[in-house]
Amino acid sequence: MTTLEAHHLVEDVPGPVLSEENRRVATGIVARYPTARSALLPLLYLVQSEVGWVPRQGMREVAEIIGLTTAEVEAVATFYTMLKLHPCGKYVISVCTNPSCSLLGARESYERAKELLGDAAERMTPDGTFTLEEEECLAACDKAPVVAVNYVFYDGVTADRMEELIGQIRGGRVPEAARGAGVPGDLKEVSKVLAGLGSAPVAVREGDGDKGDGVAEEQPAPAPEEEPKTAEPQPEEGAHLPQEGETGGPMGESEAESSPEAAEGGETDG
Ligand code: FES
Repeated sequence: MTTLEAHHLVEDVPGPVLSEENRRVATGIVARYPTARSALLPLLYLVQSEVGWVPRQGMREVAEIIGLTTAEVEAVATFYTMLKLHPCGKYVISVCTNPSCSLLGARESYERAKELLGDAAERMTPDGTFTLEEEECLAACDKAPVVAVNYVFYDGVTADRMEELIGQIRGGRVPEAARGAGVPGDLKEVSKVLAGLGSAPVAVREGDGDKGDGVAEEQPAPAPEEEPKTAEPQPEEGAHLPQEGETGGPMGESEAESSPEAAEGGETDG
């Protein structure tokens, strides 16, 4: 069975899958949105954070909480490959096998990983540590071949680097990601972050104190009911404010982004 086929088979477990505590958390998540159905993805990640994947029973419970049908929830859950529809290992290794990565050795990396982890890894290794999957373009083609571990990216992962990476994870020393995201936690922890309950763990680098060994440190989770702050930026005292018709100088990136007219004009000119 290919990874793609496995993804489209929704498996099930007896319910309920959401604990009483997570049902309360779910209510807090729904309250963040103007309409309950907007909480669909965070709630599916909440199920994944509890079960380790998303069984059909989880979809039923999410549907009930936000007033959708199970079929509507399933239609969304089967679209997003980050939602896992079968039991998975603690670490999901996603190997991009699209053209840029394949041309630079992704297929060899994938085959090396399969050799090391066994065929069962395409679902879950017997020790429950790994799931190996092929992934479509991870949008980091200039860093090819790219691999994600629980959705945190590692660049230039050749077959030898893949072997090293698997050894490090097996040894309990998950390396720091290539760019900014720190060290990925296990799939349940990462799913909790994706549900909006906390922030990604960060690596502690050498010289940052006693834990200078790349061990992940959990960051405090924000309160679920916290409202985003949208305070207007205030001009500094004595600052010159452009008047109507006056050119304020070259437009910064943020201004261009916030001005659809300007963005459109730019595209037309190009
Ligand atoms: S082809 Fe692999 S990241 Fe785009």
